[in-house]
Amino acid sequence: MSRIRSERRGPVELLTLDRPKALNALDRATLEELLGTCERLRADTSVRAVVLTGEGRAFVAGADIAEMRALDAQQAEAFSRLGHAAMDAIESLEVPTIAAVNGFALGGGCELACACDWIYASEKARFGQPEVNLGLIPGFGGTDRLVRRVGSAWGKELVLGGEPIDAATALRIGLANRLFAPDALLAASLDAAEKIASKGPLAIATAKRVMLQSQDADASAAHEFEQFAFGVISEAEECAEGMDAFLEKRTPSFKDR
Ligand code: CAA
Repeated sequence: MSRIRSERRGPVELLTLDRPKALNALDRATLEELLGTCERLRADTSVRAVVLTGEGRAFVAGADIAEMRALDAQQAEAFSRLGHAAMDAIESLEVPTIAAVNGFALGGGCELACACDWIYASEKARFGQPEVNLGLIPGFGGTDRLVRRVGSAWGKELVLGGEPIDAATALRIGLANRLFAPDALLAASLDAAEKIASKGPLAIATAKRVMLQSQDADASAAHEFEQFAFGVISEAEECAEGMDAFLEKRTPSFKDR
């Protein structure tokens, strides 16, 4: 039984976590399906952007607590590694990813949203890392990606305090980029993804890769990598088309990535 619904909307792939009875909790089967989905998207050069959302009243309410309860230390570590692999696969997709957070994004759900490039949220969304309430810690990257996104003060309040925050707070601390009325969220996210899909796919993939690699590098290595990548992309057919189109006052026509 599939736990992720995939739909194509032109150049945009819409992925919907589809296990609403368990508030889309991430069990092993879902994480493995997420990995397989990323592999498929990597190979499909006609996909230019991805929107990830949840069916029902949750985005994702966390890792599956019922499944985790039975794990010993070795199995729990393997579960964490599987979750990390799935989050890394999302984060390293060449195309931009928008998390359309429609409801609860807790624990593994907040971690999944943070693995996406940015977050648009429903005004009714709630975010949090409630693991300490279960005597646990985040296991899919929350101690790192969330802190990078919101800084250490709010990261610590969320991870150590374990209390959820509402959408307005998520917006204020830079966790969510924009808020929408619940019934406008998906259309707004798809519109943004479609707009990106009209831009240079190689440029987007390159900028994304440079930003991802640079976040752990010192400034001089990061700047060096940007300069190198800038040189490489300026020889690409796509770059010639983009600049020619500007100079000829026409709309550029970019090929699939
Ligand atoms: N895992 C498994 N099942 C879950 C779940 C989860 N994370 N979250 C919700 N569910 C299930 C509930 O057990 C319930 O199932 P039943 O109908 O079979 O009883 C169903 O989803 C609906 O949930 P509630 O009845 O609890 O709904 P609610 O509206 O009263 O509360 C909620 C909603 C506040 C999100 C609450 O469900 C909740 O607190 N969920 C757990 C949140 C959480 O702790 N997440 C972190 C998990 S640990 C983690 O994610 C670790 C990691 O980083 C890897």
